[in-house]
Amino acid sequence: ATTLGAAAAQSGRYFGTAVAAGRLSDQTYVNILNTEFNMVTAENEMKWDATEPNRGQFNYSGGDRILNQAVGNGSRVRGHALLWHQQEPGWARSMEGSSLRQAMINHVTQVATHYRGKIYAWDVVNEAFADGGSGGRRDSNLQRTGNDWIEAAFRAARAADPAAKLCYNDYNTDGINPKSTGIYNMVRDFKARGVPIDCVGFQSHLTNNAPSDYRANLQRFADLGVEVQITELDIAGSNQANAYRDVTNACMAIRACTGITVWGIRDTDSWRTGENPLLFTGSGAKKPAYNAVLDALNAG
Ligand code: G3I
Repeated sequence: ATTLGAAAAQSGRYFGTAVAAGRLSDQTYVNILNTEFNMVTAENEMKWDATEPNRGQFNYSGGDRILNQAVGNGSRVRGHALLWHQQEPGWARSMEGSSLRQAMINHVTQVATHYRGKIYAWDVVNEAFADGGSGGRRDSNLQRTGNDWIEAAFRAARAADPAAKLCYNDYNTDGINPKSTGIYNMVRDFKARGVPIDCVGFQSHLTNNAPSDYRANLQRFADLGVEVQITELDIAGSNQANAYRDVTNACMAIRACTGITVWGIRDTDSWRTGENPLLFTGSGAKKPAYNAVLDALNAG
C-alpha cells in the first residue's frame, strides 16, 4: 500500500493523526490528512476547557468540526480526553471534593453522550499517574476527590456510550518503569473487579530512541486483556527514522496493538516547536521517517 492508513489497514490496524480545527482551512494540511490517515484525534477541541467552558454550558463546535471532517473522509475518531488535570476550565480548577466529583462525572456523561456511537475509543482519563519512582497517582484536584475517581469516570463513560472503547492514556510509560507499572497494576485491578476498561494509550513522545523494552511493555499490558494503542507519537533527534521504524515494528508484533496515532502532520504543526518530530516537513514533503513507517507497516 502507498499510504499510511491503507498500509496499516492491511493488518486490521489504523494509522491516525492529531488534528487542529484551526488548520482545516489549510489545503496542504487537509490533502495530507485525507490521503494518509484513517483515524483522527482532536488535538485540543474535545478537552474539558473546550467542551464545557462554563459549568453546564457545553460547546462542541470545534470537536464536531473535526469529527465531521473525519467522518466525511471515512476516518474514525479517537476521543481525547474526558478528564485531565490540565486544560480544566477555570471554573473547575477552583473546585474540590464532592462538588468537583459531581461536576466531573457530569462532564464525562454529557460529552460521551453527545458523541455516543461516533467515537472509536475515548481517552477517559489522561495522565493521572505521577512521574518518577513512586508508581502512584499524580496529585490534582481530581485525585483529591478520592482514589476511585478513575473507575467512576470509566463507569460513567461506559453508561453513556457503550460502543466506545475506553482507554487510559499517559506519557513516559513507553518502557517498563515505576510509572508504567503503577498503571499496569491499576489495569490489572480494574480487569479483576470488572471496572470497564478496554485499552491503554502510550503517548510515545520520544527523542532518538524508543526504550529497549518498548515492545515488552506493550506486551505485558496486552496480556492483561486490553488493547494497546500508540496515541501521540512524535520523535525528535537524528535517529528519528530508525526510532519510528522500531515503534511501528513493536506495534506490528503485537496482535492487540490496534493502531498508531502521530501527534500532528507536518513539523510546523507540532507542539514541540523547533524539534521537527513528525513525518512531514513544514512544506508537506515526506521525510525519511515517513518511508520507514510505511515500509514497516507494509512488511507486517
Ligand atoms: O487557542 C488559544 C489561542 O486562542 C491563544 O491565542 C493561544 C495563545 O497561547 O493559545 C491557544 O491555546 C493553546 C492551544 O494549545 C491551542 O493551540 C494553548 O495555549 C496551548 O497550551 C495548547 O497546547 C496544547 C497542549 O496539549 C495543552 O496542554 C497542545 O496544542 C497539544 O498538542 C497538547 O497535547 C497534549 C495532549 O493533549 C496530552 N498529552 C501531551 C500532549 C502534548 O503536551
